[in-house]
Amino acid sequence: MPFEVTLQPSGKQFTVQEGTSILEAGHDADIALPYSCRAGACRTCRGRIVEGQIDHGHVHPTYLPLEEREQGYALLCQAQPLSNLVIEVQELDIMGSIRSRVCPGRVKEMRRVTPDVMIVRIKLPMNEDVMFLAGQFVEFVLANGERRAYSIASAPSIGGVTSIELHVRHTPGGLFTDYVFDGMKVHDLVRMELPQGTFFLREDSDKPLVLLASGTGFAPIKSILQYAQQKQIKRPMTFYWGGRTRADLYEMDWVERYASENEGFQFIPVVSDATPACGWSGRTGFVHRAVMEDFPDLSKHQVYACGAPIVIESAKRDFAEQCSLPLQEFFADSFLDAGDRAQARS
Ligand SMILES: Cc1cc2nc3c(=O)[nH]c(=O)nc-3n(C[C@H](O)[C@H](O)[C@H](O)COP(=O)(O)OP(=O)(O)OC[C@H]3O[C@@H](n4cnc5c(N)ncnc54)[C@H](O)[C@@H]3O)c2cc1C
Ligand code: FES
Repeated sequence: MPFEVTLQPSGKQFTVQEGTSILEAGHDADIALPYSCRAGACRTCRGRIVEGQIDHGHVHPTYLPLEEREQGYALLCQAQPLSNLVIEVQELDIMGSIRSRVCPGRVKEMRRVTPDVMIVRIKLPMNEDVMFLAGQFVEFVLANGERRAYSIASAPSIGGVTSIELHVRHTPGGLFTDYVFDGMKVHDLVRMELPQGTFFLREDSDKPLVLLASGTGFAPIKSILQYAQQKQIKRPMTFYWGGRTRADLYEMDWVERYASENEGFQFIPVVSDATPACGWSGRTGFVHRAVMEDFPDLSKHQVYACGAPIVIESAKRDFAEQCSLPLQEFFADSFLDAGDRAQARS
């Protein structure tokens, strides 16, 4: 049976049909609730149930510990109502005019920049003029109905865009990336839903920015950087890009050029497992540790982080616990794969 949800503090209301998550019903009602993985594994959609009963759904205690459940917290991408509800959650105003949609695309260009990273440009239908916020991602809809997410690396445009750039890292044995690296051809037709997610630059703040990426986590940061340049955003920005080897930082020239053109932007590349072939003389170690060495106090910063789940989880925890970063100033997309999703459901 359907139940009514009232959001706090906005007072907005919507109906949740049986079998539908609170997040999905909110989105169907055009209410911009924060989300990323929709698999119960990133916590972006966390809200607090102020009144009413829910079924928490498939939520692993790693992502919603028992004590948080007892305090009323829920992951809204998994939770379903068992009564009418009042939920406290942070809504996003800026998403209002941007609608996600399923559309076809055609592979326009493929550029293998390292043995395991492919930069793919997808041409979108001419009549669609796709709008998105810098930092958001697309989901490929595969023939078997499964979906795979990739962050958009190119910049948005006010009137919409007709092509997008994606950075795809090969996961050997992976359903989609095996196809990208060993089957996909220029002119191939693909099906996508876009834009997705709520990782984008919060422009209602003037706090200095720390941007953090591991590997292809650079993609959404590249989009945000181009957008910041277009909009002449003058907030101080420091970008840390981590890879195992020098080759993982596959567009370092691009970032260095950006740094030379943009006052107030600093670039710190960090390599964790440099080999003699890297010829590396820069920073070494874990990328989030480099941030902590340079910014022992993050209490007045905003952080945007993207890439491997272990990097995002470590950064979120250590920045909050050891560098006083307020948790609401940490924004992230964690690049979870099917294995991570299966683990979240177990
Ligand atoms: C919001 C978001 C944005 C992302 N953006 C990017 C991006 O810009 N660039 C990028 O490179 N990646 C990105 N990713 C990751 C991307 O979506 C894919 O997960 C990744 O590319 C692997 O896809 P695949 O289909 O090749 O592998 P998958 O088929 O997902 O397999 C990945 C691994 O999981 C294992 N596995 C599969 N199914 C199961 C199961 N049921 N149980 C246990 N193990 C299993 C496989 O053997 C393999 O080792 C993003 C992810 C998210 C959530
Ligand atoms: S969107 Fe709900 S946990 Fe990731």
